Amino acid sequence: MPIPPTVVSLGLAGGQGKSTVALMLGRYLGRLGIPVLFVDCDPQSSLTSFLGVQVQPDTPTLLEVLTQPEEKTKILDAIASVPDVKLGDRTINNTNLFLIPSDDGLESANYKLASSGLSLFILRNRLQPIVSNFGVAIVDPPPERSHLAQTSLGAGDRWVIPAESNVKGVQSLLRTMELIKEFKTALPYGELLGVVPFRARWTGRHPTNATKTSIDTIRQLVGSELMLPHILESDVFKNAINQRVAPTDLGQPNLEYAIHVLAQRLKPALPEEYAKLIPSKPV
Ligand SMILES: Nc1ncnc2c1ncn2[C@@H]1O[C@H](COP(=O)(O)OP(=O)(O)OP(=O)(O)O)[C@@H](O)[C@H]1O
Ligand SMILES: [Mg+2]
Repeated sequence: MPIPPTVVSLGLAGGQGKSTVALMLGRYLGRLGIPVLFVDCDPQSSLTSFLGVQVQPDTPTLLEVLTQPEEKTKILDAIASVPDVKLGDRTINNTNLFLIPSDDGLESANYKLASSGLSLFILRNRLQPIVSNFGVAIVDPPPERSHLAQTSLGAGDRWVIPAESNVKGVQSLLRTMELIKEFKTALPYGELLGVVPFRARWTGRHPTNATKTSIDTIRQLVGSELMLPHILESDVFKNAINQRVAPTDLGQPNLEYAIHVLAQRLKPALPEEYAKLIPSKPV
């Protein structure tokens, strides 16, 4: 029985779609009946707010998980349930979604991680005893090359790199591939699932010139094998994030095609009982 994998959405620049891809992959898998543990490893706490989780003053967050031993902070105590969401007269059920939340205090974990000299492995070691309670863990790291980004990288069995479909996105991808290269020998279990061009702009049946050029460049950099379908620039996505649902819940499953293909790539790494829940055709 394989151990549930940890997926990390990586990208060394702001606004590349890390949180969006982490969120939508988790929602997609959760909807299929797979228990998902999200880990918000960014002090900006986008994922915590996208999931509608309120950090309670007396419950631990990822900060305590990363900086205190299990005897002091039990990792299970840091796991919050994701609340269900009302959408018109429907209820979107989030019973399969769980989160280790963060707030801006997480920034201070960088110092502790730096002084430990073991940043790469701290999150991985903390998750290891509990990850088998879930089908998958999904980590959302910060955009800069910090110790929080390193511990996110090292936690990953599978990495996905979203990159904006523009010049900034190509540069972010290059920096992210450098980071992976630098640490790859220390992380033999880590594998890149692919690259998702984010916020691709289409006019009618054709991409804009900027989108086409950047997607072509990304393909040249990573090779066709690692190219995943793009995520379109779309207000539906933004609305879905704001309303704490997925594009599918808003009647636009086609916008989640990239997430469906990403889930297909992840399928062989999932425990069999969960892998079989992922359909080969989009739902
Ligand atoms: N398909 C889309 N089209 C347009 N905008 C989108 C789409 N999906 C998400 N967005 C918006 O793009 C912004 C950036 O996305 P996201 O937060 O996922 O990036 P990020 O890489 O996690 O950024 P950060 O580095 O700040 O953590 C968000 O404000 C989000 O609402
Ligand atoms: Mg983010």
